[in-house]
Amino acid sequence: MQTDYSTLKQLDWQFGDFKKEAKNFTHDLHPYFGKFHPMIARTLIEELAPDSKYIIDPFCGSGTTLVEAKALGKNGIGVDANPLASLMAQVKTTSIDNFILKDIYMNLPEYLLTKYEYIDHYEVLEKIEIIKPEIHNEKKWFQDNVLKELGLIKLSIEEYFQTKDWHEDKVQAAKNLCLLAFSRIITSVSNQQTESKYKAVDKNIENGVAIDKFVDHLRICIDKIEDFNGSTGNVEIEIHNSDSRYLNFIEDEKCDFLVTSPPYLNSWDYGLYHKFRFLWLNLGVKEYNNKEIGRHLRRVGDVVDRYRNDMSLCLKEFSRVLKPGSYCCIVNANSIVKKEYVNTTEIIIEEARKADLILEDIVDKKVFGPHSGMHASLLTKKTEIKSNPATEKMRTSGKEEQIIILKKYDSSKE
Ligand SMILES: C[S@@+](CC[C@H](N)C(=O)[O-])C[C@H]1O[C@@H](n2cnc3c(N)ncnc32)[C@H](O)[C@@H]1O
Repeated sequence: MQTDYSTLKQLDWQFGDFKKEAKNFTHDLHPYFGKFHPMIARTLIEELAPDSKYIIDPFCGSGTTLVEAKALGKNGIGVDANPLASLMAQVKTTSIDNFILKDIYMNLPEYLLTKYEYIDHYEVLEKIEIIKPEIHNEKKWFQDNVLKELGLIKLSIEEYFQTKDWHEDKVQAAKNLCLLAFSRIITSVSNQQTESKYKAVDKNIENGVAIDKFVDHLRICIDKIEDFNGSTGNVEIEIHNSDSRYLNFIEDEKCDFLVTSPPYLNSWDYGLYHKFRFLWLNLGVKEYNNKEIGRHLRRVGDVVDRYRNDMSLCLKEFSRVLKPGSYCCIVNANSIVKKEYVNTTEIIIEEARKADLILEDIVDKKVFGPHSGMHASLLTKKTEIKSNPATEKMRTSGKEEQIIILKKYDSSKE
């Protein structure tokens, strides 16, 4: 019997205030472009797979789906090629013992502030110089005082955890939390204009501001993780910093629900906007760029062919790791590439079918703020988009995404 998706179609997928919702759990520990509204993941899980046990988001980004899975008491697997995103997803979903959280909350700021008193001493400056990354045009992007303070924070995190005799997994989880709090403040104290404007401006950051911001944010992160620890059961969440075209580390039919939002053609350049974070955290931006689906190429045809091939590889893997009869929900938006409209939803549906993921229905939804980057270019920028019925539809209907509901073919239901 055909399933009725009218309840999903009648929902208001805007779900009210994104910022308010994102304050729940650990969702807002770090900014990331293209985040899901948490209620999208939650609603799809609750409506389509309330009894699911293993949820996978193979383009998990900052980990929204996995946070919701954990909050719902479900096991989860997240995969993302972006090492910074994987760090976010990991920190947001990893429980840390309360005694460790308390230790960091009380003692790391004190350790850092004591070191700060000696920031201009030769031995400290020498260590900062060693730990600081090489930044092209360093003076353009960072004030001297900020460079020293960021170096000191990084040095303190390194040194602080060397003194701990906790199990190495616990040390790593606690250190990751501190590194994420560190990462969060980097753009705001650099000369980069904003999170989404890669332009150097003078910000006149006073002495001590970077240190204060780090301590404040670290404590907010710790409070949120402590609250989230207390509110969730014992579930297993794995995060893999990997390429979803090759999921050989996940066994066949392990998962019973997939929800994801794939990389959009030609949208955010994560490597550029988060450039200084990649550098300070020693994350490989080149490796990421090589794996990232949807990056700019010279000709539109090349972009679309490459995208189709990449998504085809991914969809085959999604099908392989799903149990027969399981849902695979893909939240997608069509794209504009070099002024031409590309119907990526159609490409996904076609390639999914070849991988035994059969279309059940499509639910249209409006795009809320941060997700609308690509359409913003269509709606607000001065760029000329080639006019045809499809681009006109996008221009007039505005920001729309589709939730593509697929189901893995189940031969036993024949
Ligand atoms: C639209 S974002 C997902 C955002 C996520 N839903 C969230 O709430 O944060 C798409 C993600 O796909 C990731 N990605 C791109 N190419 C990939 C690949 N080959 N394998 C795995 N992840 C990839 C990007 O790094 C990006 O984080």
